Amino acid sequence: MNLKELIENRYSVRTYLSKAVEDDKLNYILECARLAPSACNFQPWQFYVVAGADKKQEIIRSYEREWVKNAPVFVVVCADKSQSWERADGKNSSDIDASIAAQHICLAVAEQGLGTCWICNFKAEILSEALDLPKHIEPIAIFPIGYIDTEKGNAPEKKRKTLAKVTKWI
Ligand SMILES: Cc1cc2nc3c(=O)[nH]c(=O)nc-3n(C[C@H](O)[C@H](O)[C@H](O)COP(=O)(O)O)c2cc1C
Repeated sequence: MNLKELIENRYSVRTYLSKAVEDDKLNYILECARLAPSACNFQPWQFYVVAGADKKQEIIRSYEREWVKNAPVFVVVCADKSQSWERADGKNSSDIDASIAAQHICLAVAEQGLGTCWICNFKAEILSEALDLPKHIEPIAIFPIGYIDTEKGNAPEKKRKTLAKVTKWI
């Protein structure tokens, strides 16, 4: 599968089997995140892998949806604002950098035959407390990761704006 095929095949998975994800697959996915580019190569990110039942419950409290509860493991991507590059006008790149690493996770998960979904609509205060994050570490996204329960859900049609609509050749 080439990159475009992987991108075409990936979709937000919201139906997981409770079957555990093997550590070698998780390590592969995290390694893909670690290798992401970042402004000035500052790598201002932290990845929290949450597989224990109690800690998972705390994460779920920050995003209480039935569909996340079956996921056997969560990876939470965080941005470290104290380690990131800042542009002259003060724009801090930590969330951009962390999002690039996060998308590497998304694609690596799909490549491994697993499913995930970006979650940003969490309650940040509850999530930060669950992970005991200091003020300068911002949670960016939660990724539930698991084998896909294809009996409960399948790839939807990909709805995207046309290239003509989003591109200007000037
Ligand atoms: C930054 C970002 C935040 C998202 N947050 C959520 C979320 O909180 N909950 C959710 O169910 N899906 C979330 N999504 C998934 C999007 O709804 C999904 O990517 C989009 O509808 C396109 O569908 P696809 O991923 O299947 O191609 C998020 C996606 C992105 C990129």
